[in-house]
Formats: sequence, structure tokens, C-alpha cells
Amino acid sequence: MSVHNETKRITTHTLQSMKQNGEKITMLTAYDYSMATIIDDAGIDVILVGDSASNVMAGHETTLPITLDQMIYHAQSVIRACKRCLVIVDLPFGSYQGNSKEALNSAIRIMKEAGAHGIKLEGGEEVIDSVKRIISAGVPVMGHLGLTPQSIYKFGTYTVRAKEEAEAEMLISNAIKLEEAGCFSLVLEKIPAALGAKVAAAIKIPVIGIGAGGGVDGQVLVMHDMLGITKNFSPRFLRRYLNLYDEIKAATEQYIKDVKTKDFPNEKEQY
Ligand code: KIV
Repeated sequence: MSVHNETKRITTHTLQSMKQNGEKITMLTAYDYSMATIIDDAGIDVILVGDSASNVMAGHETTLPITLDQMIYHAQSVIRACKRCLVIVDLPFGSYQGNSKEALNSAIRIMKEAGAHGIKLEGGEEVIDSVKRIISAGVPVMGHLGLTPQSIYKFGTYTVRAKEEAEAEMLISNAIKLEEAGCFSLVLEKIPAALGAKVAAAIKIPVIGIGAGGGVDGQVLVMHDMLGITKNFSPRFLRRYLNLYDEIKAATEQYIKDVKTKDFPNEKEQY
């Protein structure tokens, strides 16, 4: 029996064609069914179930505490919502750094238990064996270089990365290694725009930037930041499209007032 689906699904191959045709790729994070439904319906190309869930969903200071089980829970909710976009899920800290077998097992759990379309992991040369092993099992892998939040305690700050020549050269070399290992795409976070453009020109796979300038093949933002749900995070690269924090707060204040003053529910709002 064949299964027909009306909506044409975005695949890793679609992203590759978009790069070749010069069409920019759009990616946003999402962590739950309701928001993923809206973002997919709006026509986003890729949803990343990012380990930024650790920050914006769970309130942790860093991405380190979130577990593989928690990532799978978020990914399952997002996958249920998405009809068109490609859904990529972050391998969380501690689920792949041990060895390539551990990395493969974690990737397989995400594919099997959540129904994801691929995984993302942070790092260059040090994760190449894991990247190869995961891809050899048929799982698409997105790389992540530049600012890699899972290594925050190694670097000590969230400032712009690879400003110095040596670090920039290392980043380019790692990008080429990730491409050669078989990654279908690469995220570059918080690096100089000129370097972002240089990497995008040096490799054939799509490069998606967050704070990596306009010369890359696509852009990604954390949904809570671009919708203005988070308030005290204003890096230069962030464009806020709404101020939902203020709007949700005002709506909640109005609801409290309406209940306290017995305005809600009115005659028409009860049985
Ligand atoms: O976890 C995340 O949200 C990410 C993006 C910042 C790319 O990795």
C-alpha cells in the first residue's frame, strides 16, 4: 500500500538545491506542538529542536543540563505538528562526546523514538568519527561551529568567535572536514560576517547562520528571541518581530482584572 501525502516535504536534498539556486534557507527553533504547528504552517523550511530548550523552556542558565530523554520529548511534540518542514534535533551535551558508538546510539534514539529527520551536533575534528558513524547508519547530520554553547565552560564567554586569524583558519578547516565526513548542512554561530561568507563559498553544503552575517545560505533564530518572549537577551544579530512578553503580560493583567471585578464571565460566557 502506498501512502500519499498532499504536502511536499522539505528534505536535505531540497536544502542543497536551494543553495545551488541561491534561495535562502529559513530555520527557527521550536520545542512544542502548538508553536511548531504555527511555524510549519507559515512555511518555514527547517525547524530545529534545539538544546536551547534547556534555556527557554526549562529556565537553565546553559544548554548543558538538558537530557536525551527530554530532547526526545520535545522532538516528539514538534514532529507531530510538522507537515512540511524538515525537523532536525540537537544531540544534547553528554549524549555523544564519549565515543562514536554512544553518539550513534543517541542519534538512533532520536530518529526512532521521535521520528526526527536528522540530528545536529557541535564541534569539528573531535566529532568527525561520530559524524561518519551516524551518517553510515543513514542519519543526516548537521554540523555546528563557531560559538558552540555546549562548550561554554571551556570558552568562558558568549562573545563573537574566530575573530583572530588562527581560529578563523581552524574553523574553515573544520567546516571542510565536516563536509567531507558527509554532513548535509552546517550551522555557524556568532562569527564575523566575512568569515561566514568565506565558509559558505568554500563548501558545497548549505551554511545556516545565527549571527554569522548575510553571506551565508540561510538564517536561524531561537523562536523565543525573535518573538520577544525572552526579554533580557539582545545580541546585535537578533531581530525581534514581536514583543510577546509585553503582550502576554498585558493580556494576563487584563484577565486578572476581569475576574477580580466579576466582569468575566459575563452572561454570554456561561451556560
Ligand atoms: O539550540 C539551538 O537553539 C541552536 C541554535 C542557536 C542554532 O543550536
